[in-house]
Amino acid sequence: MALKLSVIGCGYLGATHAAAMSSLGFEVVGIDTDPHKVELLNKGELPFYEPGLDTLLTQEMKTGRLKFTTDYSSVSDVDVHFICVGTPQSVDGLAADLTYVYASVEAIAPHLKEGSLVVGKSTVPVGTAQALKDKLAITAPQSDLAWNPEFLREGFAVEDTLKPNRLVVGVTSNSAEKILQEVYQSLIDAGTPWVRADLPTAELVKVAANSFLATKISFINAMAEVCEAAGADVTVLAKAIGYDPRIGSRFLQAGIGFGGGCLPKDIRAFMARAQELGAEQALEFLREIDAINLRSRQRVIDVVRADLSEDLTQYKLAILGATFKPDSDDVRDSPALDIAAQLQAAGAHVVVHDPKGIEPARKRFPNLDYAEKITDCVKGADAILHLTEWKEYRDLDPAVIGQLVKSKFIIDGRNALDRDRWRSAGWRFHALGRTD
Ligand code: UDX
Repeated sequence: MALKLSVIGCGYLGATHAAAMSSLGFEVVGIDTDPHKVELLNKGELPFYEPGLDTLLTQEMKTGRLKFTTDYSSVSDVDVHFICVGTPQSVDGLAADLTYVYASVEAIAPHLKEGSLVVGKSTVPVGTAQALKDKLAITAPQSDLAWNPEFLREGFAVEDTLKPNRLVVGVTSNSAEKILQEVYQSLIDAGTPWVRADLPTAELVKVAANSFLATKISFINAMAEVCEAAGADVTVLAKAIGYDPRIGSRFLQAGIGFGGGCLPKDIRAFMARAQELGAEQALEFLREIDAINLRSRQRVIDVVRADLSEDLTQYKLAILGATFKPDSDDVRDSPALDIAAQLQAAGAHVVVHDPKGIEPARKRFPNLDYAEKITDCVKGADAILHLTEWKEYRDLDPAVIGQLVKSKFIIDGRNALDRDRWRSAGWRFHALGRTD
């Protein structure tokens, strides 16, 4: 008999995991406490934008293998439960808020059948899995617990779930590993590396990976600052060091830095946890990584002020991009929106455009002005700030845009536009980390 699966928490991670597991042939029930989300998903509609997931969801709903509910008791015949709830930064500090993780495990505990496996996928501070296992040993001793961190990138969620570059499983028994091997058999057959670990190592793999990625980005942004001071070009520098396979060229795109629901809060939660463990010195560097990242946002604001005026009240600024990265509608800790809000607070008239993120952005920053069309956004602008590298923006014709603005001045906060093209159309072009 094929295993039955449940996925608790149906955000970017959970909804993708549920649809992906269904596409592998399993019967899957997705549980979320938000009835509106559940209703949409059951209709085959996504409550957020994620390329390719809409098609996969529609396809899987038709099979009858996949359903969504708010009712925890519907998991009573399930063999493997994936915990995919969020672990946001706490409101009062750097640590992760584990409310949803504990609440979801508590909620399924009374419904766990003999031999079932609870599998954490959420990003948690090291030690959480063992604490949950200890709790389950009392409330549901017939079950076991494993940790299977998720590395999916928004914008590539489906691909990263069905073709991951590794599968990491933290287990305390061979039987738990065997169950997870059964779940992922087709991925293993396709050659995905399988890493068995203990619980704390599995938890740490995720935060270590994200810390490394954040470090790479802040490293190149620190180099961008030095390049600006020295009259050098960070894009050429990144290309040159990236040819060294020990360094690699990915995640060396200098600009306004990282945002989103993972990297910023993960490095902060990691520091907070290290402090609790008495290992804070080991992660002291992450404080600098965070500081460089936030400084990258400030540097754009400094460029605007230096070029236009300290007093921005007379200026219209067109912001291209609201999401934390392209191909997503996620605006959590978005550098672009942070910069937009700061410029508005400084008195500028700020108008924001984004191909997918306007509605989520409006919810977070209702006082910003938004434009549905790029042309309305840039009309009469004293400067354009390119802050999220959507393809739409790379495809813009500088000559056409030049006829709409008040002043042909553009700041490329992502080093993604074709500088020569804009300059030859008569634009003043400023990019972070490039001096000429
Ligand atoms: C990240 C990890 O990549 C993923 O493995 C993990 O599971 C969740 O966190 P995600 O948050 O989707 O994924 O975004 P990612 O693609 O890593 O980008 C994070 C941020 O870094 C974005 O704001 C992006 O614009 C920025 N970034 C990325 C750079 O500024 N420069 C780069 O070179 C790469």
